[in-house]
Amino acid sequence: MADNELPMNLREDNVSEETKKLISSLPTDKDCVGKLCKYQGCWYYYNTLQGVINFQNNFQAQETDIILASSPKSGTTWLKALTVALLERSKHHDGHPLLSDNPHALVPFLENNLYLKSSTPDLTKYSSSSSPRLFATHMPLLTVKEGLKGSPCKIVFMCRNAKDALISLWYFRCKYQKLEMTRGILESMFESLCSGVSFYGPIWDQVLSYWRGSLEDPSRVLFMKYEEMKEEPYAQLKRLAEFFGCPFTEEEEESGGVEKILELCSLPSLSDLEINKSGKNVNGVDYKFYFRKGEVGDSKNHLTPEMESKIDMIIEEKLKGSGLSF
Ligand code: A3P
Repeated sequence: MADNELPMNLREDNVSEETKKLISSLPTDKDCVGKLCKYQGCWYYYNTLQGVINFQNNFQAQETDIILASSPKSGTTWLKALTVALLERSKHHDGHPLLSDNPHALVPFLENNLYLKSSTPDLTKYSSSSSPRLFATHMPLLTVKEGLKGSPCKIVFMCRNAKDALISLWYFRCKYQKLEMTRGILESMFESLCSGVSFYGPIWDQVLSYWRGSLEDPSRVLFMKYEEMKEEPYAQLKRLAEFFGCPFTEEEEESGGVEKILELCSLPSLSDLEINKSGKNVNGVDYKFYFRKGEVGDSKNHLTPEMESKIDMIIEEKLKGSGLSF
């Protein structure tokens, strides 16, 4: 795939003179996709950095905004769908937004969608008098907070085992770049993960930023795990609803309201919708690539035992003393 065919967020052709100057003062490196620079402790492709800067300089938060944060390939699509379904549950007896739009269109990314192309994107279509605005991000917590400028928005973070997220990214990247799925590509992505020089990496720093934020202020930052969502979806969905201040009523529970949302947002249901079979996101990536197996432990089928134990050792070492494991 030629450089100009890459999704816009991975390219380097939309950077202002000011951001170029900033990049020249930052640590830089590259991975198998393109050039990266490290800003506020996190590695970005250059166009995405422009989106981060645009967001930090121009976003005007509303107190009721909700930010859905995650590491790439950690269940972002699922979290977006569940949040939309939760907050919309008393409306839309027919014509539910999830039936006609992909979760990524309903909950846009700040830095690699809204603020990627414009420093002043039109956010009016995300406002409604009855629901909070929903936005998504992969930026670490401190970078997000800088853009929120003191606004007390609620933030949910979804984390996933780094080995499964790596395999998920390998599949995803090869699909949208139309590459053959070779061991060479996987090995190069593995090296990037381990060295920390990877898009939105180091993953341990990104995850720890939200983990610490959730310990400091649990009413503001909710820390969730993909594996726990898979293991006990009913309890985790209730936890999410309580965090948003809209817990399920007894009546809702008794009438199957929780199960209804879980069913609507399940991988088989979402991936079977026409919009998710044939649509594309703003960066030209097919929505169907966001849905694959959705299993815990698939990395075992692809990584060698040596690769697995190297990732385990690094993550364990980096998280030591934090009280977190993932
Ligand atoms: P796999 O590639 O392991 O199957 P993201 O949404 O952050 O891009 O993450 C994509 C991963 O979440 C993929 O994992 C995908 O299959 C899985 N996924 C997508 N929708 C899901 C859903 N509704 N429920 C559970 N997992 C889902």
